Amino acid sequence: MRVAMIGTGYVGLVSGACFADFGHEVICVDKDKAKIGALGRGEMPIYEPGLNDMVAANSRAGRLKFATELARAVADADAVFIAVGTPSRRGDGHADLSFVYDAAREIAHALDGFTVVITKSTVPVGTGDEVERIIRETRPDANCAVVSNPEFLREGAAIQDFKHPDRIVVGTNEMRAREVMSELYRPLYLNRSPILFTDRRTAELIKYAANAFLATKITFINEIADLAEKVGADVQEIARGIGLDNRIGSKFLHAGPGYGGSCFPKDTMALIKTAQDHATSLRIVEAVAAVNDTRKRAMARKVSTALGGEVRGKTIAVLGLTFKPNTDDMREAPSLPLITALQDMGGKVRVYDPAGMEQAKSLISNVTFCDDAYTCAEGASALVIVTEWEQFRALDFQRLKKVMAQPILVDLRNVYRPDEIARHGFVYECVGRARKL
Ligand SMILES: NC(=O)c1ccc[n+]([C@@H]2O[C@H](COP(=O)([O-])OP(=O)(O)OC[C@H]3O[C@@H](n4cnc5c(N)ncnc54)[C@H](O)[C@@H]3O)[C@@H](O)[C@H]2O)c1
Repeated sequence: MRVAMIGTGYVGLVSGACFADFGHEVICVDKDKAKIGALGRGEMPIYEPGLNDMVAANSRAGRLKFATELARAVADADAVFIAVGTPSRRGDGHADLSFVYDAAREIAHALDGFTVVITKSTVPVGTGDEVERIIRETRPDANCAVVSNPEFLREGAAIQDFKHPDRIVVGTNEMRAREVMSELYRPLYLNRSPILFTDRRTAELIKYAANAFLATKITFINEIADLAEKVGADVQEIARGIGLDNRIGSKFLHAGPGYGGSCFPKDTMALIKTAQDHATSLRIVEAVAAVNDTRKRAMARKVSTALGGEVRGKTIAVLGLTFKPNTDDMREAPSLPLITALQDMGGKVRVYDPAGMEQAKSLISNVTFCDDAYTCAEGASALVIVTEWEQFRALDFQRLKKVMAQPILVDLRNVYRPDEIARHGFVYECVGRARKL
C-alpha cells in the first residue's frame, strides 16, 4: 500500500519506518525543512534505538522517502496518517489541535481518488468528526474515510512496541476503510496482535483512558512510597507484592520522581478538560495530575534533606535529564523542575545525560554540562540519579568518592540497594525506602 505520513516526529518517523519495513511504500512528510534535510542525509533527528538502521535499510530499498511537500505524497497515497503534535494549549490545558486541523486542510486540497485519512496523533473525542468536516468543507468532492488509529508506542522501545503491540485500535464504521486498515496492519495480526475495531469516538477515548490509567498507577505507587518512607516500609517490596496479583500487574509500579514526557502530562490535562466540557468530572485523574505536578519539584527536598538542609553554595551533580532512558526527549522531564528548585535553594548544578544534552541546552540555564558521570560528580556534595540510564546502574563508587566533595547519593529511581551503597560509605537517599546511613 502507498502511505503518506504527515508529521515526522517520534511517532511519524517510527511508524513510517515500520510500515516501510512491512513492505509498504511510505513517504514521511514534515514541514520542518531541517528535519527532512537531515533524514535525506541519513541523519536521525531523534534518538531512538534501532531507528537509524531501519530507516537506512528501507531508504536503500526505495520503500521509505522523505519530503517537505505534502501534495504529491497525499495524492498518490491509499492511506494518509496525521501524526503531528498535539501539545497542551497555552493558557487552558486543552489539546492544541491547530496542527491537526492545518494538516487536514492541506490533505483535503491534495486528495485524489479513494483515500483513508487516519488520525494517529492523540486527539480528544470528536476530533475525527471535525477533521472530516474540514475535509468535506474544503473538498466537497473528496472520496475519503476518516479513521482514528491512536498510537501506543513508548519512546525508547518504539520499534518493538510498534511491531509487537498489545493491540491495534481502529475507530471507523466504514467497511472500505476497515479493509485498508486491515491490509496496512496485516503483518502484525498475522503475528497475533489483536486488532480492535470500534467506532471513531471510542477509539479516541481509548487512548486517553489508557494514558490516564497508567499515569494513575504511577502516581498511586508514588504516594504509597511517601507513606512507606514515613512508616519504615519498602515500596519496592510493596510493588512486587501487589504486582504479582494478575488483576494489578507489575508494570508502571516503579516509584520515582513523578511522570513526565510528551504524553502523560498533556494527555491527562486534555482528558480533564474534555470531561469538564461535557459536564463530567474525572476526579481521580484530576488528583493524579495535581499530585504529580507538585511531586517533581518536591524531589529537591530529598536532596536538601540528604545535605542536612543546607543546599546554598553547594554543588549538586544530576545524572540523567531526559524523562526516561533511551530517548533524547526532554518534554516535561522531572529533571527540569528539580534543577530549578535546586537553583532556587542556592545550589550549583552540574548535569550529564547520554542523549538529552542537546535538547536540554535550550531548556535549562546556569548549569555546567559535563561529558560523563564522573566529570559531572567532580566537586559535588550530592549526586542525584534522575533518569535510570543503563550506564548509571553500575557506577564506580570508589572513583566517585575520590572526586566528590561529600559521598552522598540521592537515587530517585531506586536503582541501588541501600545496603550496598552503605557499604561504599555513601549517605543514601531514595524513594519509598527507609533512609540508611
Ligand atoms: N512521542 C510519543 O511517545 C507518543 C506516543 C503515542 C502518541 N503520541 C502522539 O503522537 C502525536 C505526535 O507526537 P510526536 O511525539 O511524534 O510529536 P513531534 O513533535 O515529535 O512531531 C510532530 C511533527 O509534526 C510536524 N508537523 C506539524 N504540522 C505539520 C504539517 N502540517 N505538515 C507536516 N508536518 C507537520 C512537526 O514539524 C513535527 O516534526 C502527538 O499527538 C502525541 O501525543 C506520541
